[in-house]
Amino acid sequence: MRKLIYHVAVTVDGFIARKNGSVDGFLMKGDHVDAYLEHLKEYDTVVMGRRTYEAGYDFGLRPGDIAYPNMKHFVVSKTLSFTQRHADLNIVGENAIEVIRSLKDTQGSSIYLCGGGSLAGSLLRSGMIDELLLKVNPVVFGEGIRLFDGVDTAVGLTPLNTTSYESGVVLNRYSIAIEKDSPVPGSDFR
Ligand SMILES: NC(=O)c1ccc[n+]([C@@H]2O[C@H](COP(=O)([O-])OP(=O)(O)OC[C@H]3O[C@@H](n4cnc5c(N)ncnc54)[C@H](OP(=O)(O)O)[C@@H]3O)[C@@H](O)[C@H]2O)c1
Repeated sequence: MRKLIYHVAVTVDGFIARKNGSVDGFLMKGDHVDAYLEHLKEYDTVVMGRRTYEAGYDFGLRPGDIAYPNMKHFVVSKTLSFTQRHADLNIVGENAIEVIRSLKDTQGSSIYLCGGGSLAGSLLRSGMIDELLLKVNPVVFGEGIRLFDGVDTAVGLTPLNTTSYESGVVLNRYSIAIEKDSPVPGSDFR
């Protein structure tokens, strides 16, 4: 089975974006970026929520296009539609969790869960995320979009490794200690 890896930049206080969706404050240059670009080559598939896809517009993404070359895209949304879209852009409207569960059963690399916090929260509650790769940036936002939305129970993590970059970013890899197909108590997966 393919792993689903939530690979994301996060503040020291656990936010992936500011309240207004801005990612100003994360370090966009440095040796951690080079490492991230190398990491991306390991994924052939990316999964993201609709607001994460739309956040790409601020960085030059054209509606209906793909954000990452050479990856199949699965954007979870009940509202998004395009008259024309790239052949590698799939919109998952209904039964998103089940579609992603099925995707994990297909052949391919580990799957890149790009974000955001809403989708990641649903997937964590459903016991679907296998690993976290957290690019912890040396910044505090105080408020914003949480790493996982809607998760109010403790989830055990197993630290796998840590890499410190000269830029100040620390990359922490964890596996998630949830039995496969055994959702977190209190989950309301959709
Ligand atoms: N720091 C980083 O590395 C990083 C990475 C990624 C994103 N971000 C930031 O995170 C922000 C977006 O995160 P977010 O939490 O607001 O939104 P999100 O998770 O990207 O998208 C939420 C939307 O996705 C759909 N969705 C999510 N879970 C679903 C489910 N279980 N079933 C069906 N549909 C589901 C819904 O779309 P519909 O309403 O269309 O149905 C929902 O409104 C952006 O500001 C982005 O810049 C940061």
